[in-house]
Amino acid sequence: MARKILEVNQMTAGFLVNTDIVKATDRISFDLEKGQTLCIVGESGSGKSVTSLAVMRLIDYAGGMILEGDIKFNGEVLSTKSQEEMRKIRGNRIAMIFQDPMSSLNPVFMVGEQIAESLRLHQNKSDKEAMKAAVDLLRQVGIPSPEVRARQYPHELSGGMCQRVVIAIALACQPELLIADEPTTALDVTVQAQILDLLQQLKKNNDMSIIMITHDMGVAAEMADRIVVMYAGGIMEEGSVHEIFAKPSHPYTVGLLKSIPGFEDSHGEELYTIKGNIPRINELPTGCRFHPRCTHAMDICRKQEPGFFQLGQDHKAACWLYEEHGGDSIVSPAGAAIAHGEVRV
Ligand SMILES: Nc1ncnc2c1ncn2[C@@H]1O[C@H](COP(=O)(O)OP(=O)(O)O)[C@@H](O)[C@H]1O
Ligand SMILES: [Mg+2]
Repeated sequence: MARKILEVNQMTAGFLVNTDIVKATDRISFDLEKGQTLCIVGESGSGKSVTSLAVMRLIDYAGGMILEGDIKFNGEVLSTKSQEEMRKIRGNRIAMIFQDPMSSLNPVFMVGEQIAESLRLHQNKSDKEAMKAAVDLLRQVGIPSPEVRARQYPHELSGGMCQRVVIAIALACQPELLIADEPTTALDVTVQAQILDLLQQLKKNNDMSIIMITHDMGVAAEMADRIVVMYAGGIMEEGSVHEIFAKPSHPYTVGLLKSIPGFEDSHGEELYTIKGNIPRINELPTGCRFHPRCTHAMDICRKQEPGFFQLGQDHKAACWLYEEHGGDSIVSPAGAAIAHGEVRV
């Protein structure tokens, strides 16, 4: 049986705002199997970054906390570890890449030095060994003339090169799990494709598992084995990449897919947008959190929050549309608009 590297179980994370606790994730559960890539998708403000900060326990430093549930890494509970214990795991067994490479790098140190630092800290390498390993890592992430580049400062490198350096830092200690939060959003399209290719290749070579956070369904299509769709702090749909793209079932997922270029034949029409805005986390509607924006909303959706309905062996959606189907028949909420296999990105 496949081994679970990460298990997130009924996890609620939130922040103290004035005197209120506001929940940014609401009892979310998902697993990641070793060697797989899980993409968490959803509009901005869905709770994707909070989820990754909770796994890393960096949320403690952002003024937040894990309020309920637990997070296990290789069977070990992370959610109750001390920060001292977490420091041994972070950057070593679990590494993270953020959206903006420039804010992850220190402008006053040479990039090679910044990679070497992590090796000295976690792997007790000498200065010389660490610098040699840093140059090797720069080569591995596809940076030409790595010996020269290692002695340059972040401002001397392009955005794409800086993100490669950030990836090299993340990979320095050969983490078992890499969390990448919108790692290509700040980069132009060509560089984005190169970085995604690089991550795929490194995952294969290094036997890594990846959580990739993205608002871009195109990125998810390319990277994911599994997809978790989040909206306003809750999980709306989950399944294998194949199920999600062939049979998107939650109206929110369908909306996300329709808003990408190339979906259906939108000949010259304006790109679809889901009407309305994501609610503030302390002003969630009753019932299904998506119902005010849902074109399929029924009475029950306004009153009662749906649980998950199983749509296939590897596919579930939190949507009342599937109640009467008992989960075994997959009817796309967008009706005939989405026939199996028609979704292209
Ligand atoms: N430090 C914070 N304090 C209070 N609320 C926060 C903080 N960070 C994030 N949030 C709130 O949590 C919700 C989810 O945010 P986030 O996880 O960043 O969304 P995403 O990454 O999906 O765009 C948002 O409503 C956001 O305003
Ligand atoms: Mg985010």
